[in-house]
Amino acid sequence: MAEKIIFDTDPGIDDALALLLLAASPEVELLAITVTHGNTSQDKCLRNALQLVELAGITHVPVARGASEPLVKELSVAEETHGDGGLGYAQLPPSSQKPDGLLAHDLIIDLVEKNPGEITLLCVGPMTNIALAFLKKPSIAGKVKKIISMGGAIHYPGNATPQSEYNVFCDPEAFDIVLNAGIECILVPLDVTYKCIFTTEHLARITKARSDVKKFIDDSTRFYMEFHASHQSIQGCAINDPLAAALLIDPTLVHNRDYFVSVELLSPTSKAKTIADHYGALKKAPNAKVSMDVDVERFMNLFIERMNALI
Ligand code: BDR
Ligand code: CA
Repeated sequence: MAEKIIFDTDPGIDDALALLLLAASPEVELLAITVTHGNTSQDKCLRNALQLVELAGITHVPVARGASEPLVKELSVAEETHGDGGLGYAQLPPSSQKPDGLLAHDLIIDLVEKNPGEITLLCVGPMTNIALAFLKKPSIAGKVKKIISMGGAIHYPGNATPQSEYNVFCDPEAFDIVLNAGIECILVPLDVTYKCIFTTEHLARITKARSDVKKFIDDSTRFYMEFHASHQSIQGCAINDPLAAALLIDPTLVHNRDYFVSVELLSPTSKAKTIADHYGALKKAPNAKVSMDVDVERFMNLFIERMNALI
């Protein structure tokens, strides 16, 4: 049976690629897309999500407007990474889709209540919407099947500050709430996603996708690759969010380690750092399965095969 999921996202170039991967994957039943601020503003992320469901041919999936701001800190956006509009050089036609009548956190509550123990939350942006849902209705945390989250940096340096990963950086307090909600949580940090560098050679293997999908992938990743080259000296682009999504299709792509992970909330120099208790010094039960290794080739093959299925 297909895995029921809610996709919480801030599209975003790699978010968009993750959405395409989900749309191409019968292993997944996408119940809703809930939009957060993050790579760009809530308004632009929402517009992008509504355009992407048309591109991906999944207009039956509700798209809900989410939080415009983090719980505590001020808003950040990453337009130098993802472009002014959030999708690099890609230009999608205006969407005829409208957002769902419920706000993201209310839609999450509603769907989890109706499907107790069955829904996986796939979270590839700041965790504000999920934290708001848990704060409003604490009992739903116990009804979520599990969380897969692209977030954090364990040994790898940060990409937002020297020590913090962007999704955690954008709303560290929300991430802390979700991590400690007592739900099975698979954390997919930069340690593995930055091994998954999508190159022009990979791009050249996407030959069968419908022409508008292919053009979208070309135009969005060209911008993303330019950012990685100019800011991080990486040839290609890290496809973070698709790796998290791919675990719904094949969990054996990664090797996980059980850790108690905390989020630094106070230090001015390392705020939003994710700290794993490697040797169990804190004597706390693990709160996350953290992906520490990945079969890059198998993941890239899966990603390219699914993009080629979008015909
Ligand atoms: C994460 O931050 C965003 O820029 C990407 O979409 C991804 O979810 C990587 O740190
Ligand atoms: Ca994202």
